[in-house]
Order: sequence, then structure tokens, then C-alpha cells
Amino acid sequence: MTQVEDDSRAMRLDRDSFAQGYFKNAVYRHWDPYEIEGLAGDKERFLDEEPSKAEFEEFRTAVSRFGAGEEAVTEDLMPLALVLEDINDQMFISSQIYEEAKHTQFFDRYWREVIDPVAEELGYEKTNPTAQRYFNDHYVALFDKTEAAMERLLTEDTPENRARAYCHYHLTVESVLAQTGYYGFTSAFSPGGSDEVAKREWPDMDGIVNGITKIRSDEGRHVGFGMHKVRTLVQSGEVDEAVVQETLQDLMPHVAGTVGDFGDAINPAPLVGYARDKLTRRLDIITDADAEVPPVDDLVDLGDDTVAAD
Ligand SMILES: [Fe+2]
Ligand SMILES: [Fe+2]
Repeated sequence: MTQVEDDSRAMRLDRDSFAQGYFKNAVYRHWDPYEIEGLAGDKERFLDEEPSKAEFEEFRTAVSRFGAGEEAVTEDLMPLALVLEDINDQMFISSQIYEEAKHTQFFDRYWREVIDPVAEELGYEKTNPTAQRYFNDHYVALFDKTEAAMERLLTEDTPENRARAYCHYHLTVESVLAQTGYYGFTSAFSPGGSDEVAKREWPDMDGIVNGITKIRSDEGRHVGFGMHKVRTLVQSGEVDEAVVQETLQDLMPHVAGTVGDFGDAINPAPLVGYARDKLTRRLDIITDADAEVPPVDDLVDLGDDTVAAD
């Protein structure tokens, strides 16, 4: 509800709230998905490398899943924006919805400017990023469950359901799944990550890595917000930590099933291991009373590390 008159606060915004700090960081870190450089270079390098049909199909699958995932999270955040009462929280979520839209834009652009032209020049079938062939049952189940958990807030806004929503959206989709995907791309197409992931050595693909670097930095902030919220619900005693554990455990097989069905260009085992490790670390920060969510500047500053929000 709009609060024009409100004796409970002097100023409209609480600069000391974590959400307002996150909002400030989001504004400061703004970037433009239409200006990401390196896409033309990626196209040239793919043409030089001549990936096999199977290798190229796996790359397309990964890009397609990312694009669809960003579109889904852009849509699915709206219920949370409607139920959050605090203006500082609302401002942060507004910035997050805008950022998810930018992520969706970047992957759409990549398909048009890199994937399609490469497919055409190598004589492979041109495909749609929306084609059913790119989405396995685990992927579909994960995103269906996340959409349902977010929509449930509109009819039953309880502390448990908020915790479940954050566990689906921020902890599983944005943190575990997306960060595992970034790790895969970074490992294959940049000097970072692990040499175990890609089955052959690729040249650096600056276009996809430049975009993903910006996106990962945003995601560090998003995941931090969700972690902060779930941790507060659990540490205040409002929500039993079993709710968090059960939700994450229910979703983990879907994450493993989504990152695990590669094999021609990508070794799935290191990715599945990475995802499991990530999930365990998330759970530790939420359930351990002495643990802390890192400061926002650390969450978004990737440095030489491969993944934000450790
Ligand atoms: Fe995103
Ligand atoms: Fe996000």
C-alpha cells in the first residue's frame, strides 16, 4: 500500500537497510546489454574452430537454456514485488526485475548475432532458441515448480511460503543452476574455471564471457538478497530450517538433471559436483548462526574468482 503519511519513519528511505545498499550498488553497476563487445569475434572464432554438429548443438542448448531461464525469472519475480511491504525491498526488487530483463536481452542478442549466423555458415540447421528439443524434463520441472512457488505468494503469503519462494528462485535457480552454468561457460571459453569441463580446448570467446561476467555480477547481488531474506526467516525462528532443507533437496535432482545431460563438448561430472558443493555452502550460511552473507561489494566483485556470492 502506498504510504504518503507515515509517522513510523522520518525519511522515506532507510539508507542503512541492506536492501537500500543493494539498490545503490545496482545503480552504480549499471550496464547496457546492447553494448557488450566481442560477439562478432565469437562468430569468427566459431567459424575458425568448426565445431562438430554435436558440439555446436550442446553449445546452443546451453545458450538456449540460459535465455529461457532469464526470461522465466524476469516474469516470475513479479509476485514477490507485490507482497514485499518495505519500500527499500521494493526498490531493490524493481532493480532486479530490470536486470533480469537485460539478461534476457543479452541471450536473445547472442542467438541472433552469433548462433544463427554460425549455424548457417557451417551448414547446420538453423533452430529456434524456444524449440522444445533444448529443454529436458528436469529443466521444465524446475522452472514449473519455481513459477508455482512464486505465484503461491499471491494467494498464501506466509513466512514458510516466502522461504520456499526464495529457495526456489534465488537459491536454486539463480545461485546453484545459473552459477554452475556460468562456471561451465567460463571454464570452456576463458582462462578461468576448470580444465575438466570442456572436452577440447577452445579459444577465448570474449563475447559470451563479457556478457556472462556482467550478468554474474548482477546475480551476486540477487542471490545475496535472497540469502539474506531466508537467513533472517530461519535465524529469527519464524521458519524451521527443515523447510529450507526439504525445498533445496527436492530441487537438487532437477539441477543435476539440467547440467548433467551433456557429453559431446562438455563433461557433466564436474558441473554436477560444482552444483552440489554450491548448494551445501548456501545451506551452511543460512543455517549456521555464526555465518554471514558477505557484503554486497564482495558479492558482485568477481575478481579472479570464478563465481560470485561464495
Ligand atoms: Fe538473471
Ligand atoms: Fe538474477
